[in-house]
Amino acid sequence: MKNIVITGGAGFIGSHVVRLFVNKYPEYNIINLDKLTYAGNLANLKDVEDKPNYKFVKMDICDFDAFYQLMQDEQIDGIIHLAAESHVDRSIKDPFTFARTNVMGTLSLLQAAKLYWESLPEKYEGKRFYHISTDEVYGALEMTHPEGIEPPFTTTASSSEHHLAYGEDFFYETTKYNPHSPYSASKASSDHFVRAYHDTYGMPTIVTNCSNNYGPYQFPEKLIPLFINNIRHRKPLPVYGKGENVRDWLYVVDHARAIDVIFHNGKVAETYNIGGFNEWKNIDIIKTVIATVDRLLGRPEGADLDLITYVTDRLGHDARYAIDSTKLQKELGWEPSLQFEEGIEKTVKWYLENEAWMDNITSGEYEKYYEDMYKNR
Ligand code: NAD
Ligand code: DAU
Repeated sequence: MKNIVITGGAGFIGSHVVRLFVNKYPEYNIINLDKLTYAGNLANLKDVEDKPNYKFVKMDICDFDAFYQLMQDEQIDGIIHLAAESHVDRSIKDPFTFARTNVMGTLSLLQAAKLYWESLPEKYEGKRFYHISTDEVYGALEMTHPEGIEPPFTTTASSSEHHLAYGEDFFYETTKYNPHSPYSASKASSDHFVRAYHDTYGMPTIVTNCSNNYGPYQFPEKLIPLFINNIRHRKPLPVYGKGENVRDWLYVVDHARAIDVIFHNGKVAETYNIGGFNEWKNIDIIKTVIATVDRLLGRPEGADLDLITYVTDRLGHDARYAIDSTKLQKELGWEPSLQFEEGIEKTVKWYLENEAWMDNITSGEYEKYYEDMYKNR
C-alpha cells in the first residue's frame, strides 16, 4: 500500500492518526480528506503540514463524484475512515446530520472505492477499507457493582489503584448491536454497510470499535477538555445526572497506535475492540481533573470542587461502557502504553500550555452554542 486517504484527519483522533502515519511512513502518500466542519481544525496538524508525504483535501465524504475522482487521480490503495459527526448531545438535537454524514457518507466512500478498485486489473489485491467505529454501537452495560470489583483482565494502561470494573459483563466483538442514541445508531448503520461490502462484493474491510478517547486536540464539547477549560476559567462544570455513568478511557495516541497495527496486520473482515480496561465513573474523573488542574495552576487543593454543578441528565444516557480488547492484545500484540494518571497529567498540561488553541475555538460562535446548550437544559 502506498497511497492512503485518512478521512476526518483534521478532527481529534484523525489528526493523531495522520501525524503518526506521516512521521512513521515517509514512503506513503497520506491524504487528509476533511470537510472542516465545526470539529475540523487544521491547527491540529501544524507540525506535519509541510511534510512532502502529506496533502490536505477539503471534501465532504457525501460528495460521491469528487471522491470517486480522487480515488482515480491519487490511485488510492487504502482508506482509513474516521470522518463523522461524533458528539452524542448534538445527535440528540440534530439526528439528520448524523444520518447524512455517518451513514450516507460512509456508503458513498464504499461505493466509490468499490467502483475504482474493481476497475483495476488487480481488483482488491493489496487494498484496504478500514472503518473506525465506537463501542457505543453495543448499547449500554449494567452497573451490577456500583462500588467496583476486581476486574477479570489486566493491562498496563490502568492505574493499579483505580483498576476496578463496575459490572461483570463487557463488550466483546461478538456482542449484539443495540445502539441507543442517534449518534450510535448512525455509527451502527455505517458498520453494517462496511461489513455488507465485504460480504457482498469481497471488499477487504476491517471495522474497529473503540472506547472513549482523551488527550490533546479534542474539541471542547467533550467531557475532559470542556471541564479543563471551565476549571481554568472558573466556570460551572455541568455534570449530567448523578455523575455515576461509567466510561472506559483510552489515551488517543494509543488508539492511533492500535489503528496503525490493525491497518497493517489486522485480518480482513475481522472486527477488533480497542479499549484501555480503564473504567471510571464520570464524577471520579471530574474530581481527578479538578485536582490536576488546580495543582498545575498552583491553586489550593480542592479550590474548584464547588464548580461541580449537577444538571438534567442526557436523554437516553448509557449507564456503562466497558470494552474487552483481549483479541487485539493477544492476536496483534498491541497494548496501551500509558497509565491513566500519566495520560491525564499529560492531557491537562497540554491544554493549559495551549491556551491559544483552546481560546481560538471557544471564542465567537462556539461560545454562543455552548451557552444555548446549557440555557436550554
Ligand atoms: P471529531 O468530531 O473530533 O472529528 C471528526 C472530523 O470529521 C472533523 O475533522 C470533521 O471536520 C470531519 N467531518 C465531519 N463530517 C464530515 C464530512 N461530511 N465530510 C468530511 N469530513 C467530515 O471526531 P473524533 O472524536 O476524532 O472521532 C473520529 C472517529 O472516531 C469518528 O468516526 C468517531 O465515531 C470515532 N470514535 C471516536 C471516539 C472518541 O472517544 N472520540 C471513540 C471511538 C470512536
Ligand atoms: O465511547 C466512545 C464515544 O465516546 C465516542 O464514540 C464518541 O464520539 C465520544 O464523543 C464519546 O462519547 P461520550 O458521550 O461517552 O463522551 P462525552 O465526552 O460527551 O461524555 C462522557 C461522559 O460524560 C458521558 O457519560 C456524559 C458525561 N458528560 C458529558 C459532558 C459533555 C457530562 O456529565 N457533562 C458534560 O458536559
